[in-house]
Amino acid sequence: MPLRPDLIEILRDEAVPIVILTGAGISKESGLHTFRDPDGIWAKYDIAEVATPEAFVNNPDLVHYFYNDRRAGLRDPAIVPNAAHLALARLEAEWPGDVLLVTQNVDDLHDRAGSKNLIHMHGELLKIRCNHCDLLTVWADDLARETPCPSCGNAGGLRPHVVWFGEMPLEMERIYDALGKCGLFISIGTSGNVYPAAGFVQVAREEAEAETVELNLEPSSGATLFDHSAYGAATDLVPGFVAALLKD
Ligand code: APR
Repeated sequence: MPLRPDLIEILRDEAVPIVILTGAGISKESGLHTFRDPDGIWAKYDIAEVATPEAFVNNPDLVHYFYNDRRAGLRDPAIVPNAAHLALARLEAEWPGDVLLVTQNVDDLHDRAGSKNLIHMHGELLKIRCNHCDLLTVWADDLARETPCPSCGNAGGLRPHVVWFGEMPLEMERIYDALGKCGLFISIGTSGNVYPAAGFVQVAREEAEAETVELNLEPSSGATLFDHSAYGAATDLVPGFVAALLKD
């Protein structure tokens, strides 16, 4: 347990606001690949060919193939929220203070686990938007260059509602506002390689003097920036950590 019981008592008595950051590691045990592990997505695909605005201009068919494949994976009935997702939804429901969950993940497992105060800062795989009319809508099927927009009817403008490299993540103002006020910052299942998410721990430490905790399979690139840490699988670490916070 990375936090001492007396510190937990203080945080709970003061009902401090909590900000949680999650990454692909929290969904690994649900059967979804991470990005940078040896069997990760970036071992199979080149970022520059599938996850940049330039890639979508140069080869939209490959980009659609890449996201259609991941969207189809998410429709697999065997892919369900795991004990770590469920524990975070419980923390939100039972913690006496605010809990904001910021995920880098584009899957819908936090949503399905019951998390409400949730920001998908890198977008959502089960949504698309139109470059012609700015429509943003839910979408579970395959997408192709020829697919007409359900709103404006034009083809060629529909794209996955995901944040590509070189694009601005979503709801950054709301995220920085919460980081600047939190008493506890928890990072789960992320390698700490991608900014601005990898810089959140420093904002929480320096602006809010928050307690910072890393829960991950292994030390992340930013491990030394955290006050407290525990290493292991998310489904082993997170439920126990939440139970301790809630004084089960
Ligand atoms: N439990 C906990 N942590 C795990 C588990 C597990 N079962 N399995 C893997 N991890 C850890 C890995 O050790 C690694 O540190 O999860 C982390 C996953 O790191 P990445 O693959 O780099 O994923 P993430 O940090 O979410 O990537 C950030 O990069 O590619 C972009 O936009 C994409 O949102 C993504 C961003």
